Amino acid sequence: MTDATTEPFDAPTGPGGSTPSKESESYTHGHHESVLRSHRWRTAENSAAFLLPHLSPGLSILDVGCGPGTLTVDLAQHVAPGKVVGVDASETVLASAREAAEDKGVENVEFRHANAYELPFDDDSFDVVFAHQVLQHLSDPVAALREMRRVARPGGLVANRESDYAAMTWYPESHGLTEWNELYHEVTRAYGFEADAGRRLLSWVERSGVAPEAITPSAGVWCYSTPEDRRWWGGLWAERCIASNFAVQAKESALADDVALELLAQDWLRWAEEPGGWFAVLHGETIARV
Ligand SMILES: C[S@@+](CC[C@H](N)C(=O)[O-])C[C@H]1O[C@@H](n2cnc3c(N)ncnc32)[C@H](O)[C@@H]1O
Repeated sequence: MTDATTEPFDAPTGPGGSTPSKESESYTHGHHESVLRSHRWRTAENSAAFLLPHLSPGLSILDVGCGPGTLTVDLAQHVAPGKVVGVDASETVLASAREAAEDKGVENVEFRHANAYELPFDDDSFDVVFAHQVLQHLSDPVAALREMRRVARPGGLVANRESDYAAMTWYPESHGLTEWNELYHEVTRAYGFEADAGRRLLSWVERSGVAPEAITPSAGVWCYSTPEDRRWWGGLWAERCIASNFAVQAKESALADDVALELLAQDWLRWAEEPGGWFAVLHGETIARV
């Protein structure tokens, strides 16, 4: 199942089709259940710890590319009664985000359909404008950062966190995981996206016009190393290899076929059962005072 959204900026493109552009981007992972399982695990503590010291009750936050919203809802609890808005290009995932807020009884958050390149807000609207793992899915991350800056109030913050696929490390060595990582780079490149966003984030923020001295860069890591975490992470990636939009794009761009993707899925499941197996995801982080 791929994401069913039909917005123009969600429309799928392939390397055989038009040149990837802002107008024709297709989110690599889509919103298959295996993808949402990973997004729903995210909390302010495990994915936005670098931002938490800057939050206090009453601040307003915009979360750009909020996905299923668990992170957004968590941030809303940190700034209540401050107003929090999550926006995403996919209507499908926004329905899930609204459910997450309702389930937790969080009322100072709302979710709206919007494109990161054209945020439907006036200049200077929010105290904090945040995006987690979104710029790596955009063909023009610097343009999106300029837009984030526009809606942040003077003296406010633009905060970003991006993973870096080439910096992912795992043990034990696995030919299959190495192939998966190479394939992920090839697919994202074919669609005009930068998988190694973490290391580039600081340079993108500088290019968006923020003075270097106004930016605090840092790095943050996810680590999946308990048997339970390994089974969860390995299991969801096995499924993503065969059932998510990543599989669709790998095949559309003739970089892999069903057999190859099934083998990668099996390698993920094998890795998940390895005693002592370990996987780390490095992120680049920035807080820019604008
Ligand atoms: C990797 S997910 C991250 C979701 C959430 N920030 C989190 O970390 O849990 C990327 C999200 O960005 C959204 N997205 C992609 N392109 C977008 C665009 N141009 N404007 C708004 N959202 C976009 C996708 O629909 C997807 O939900």
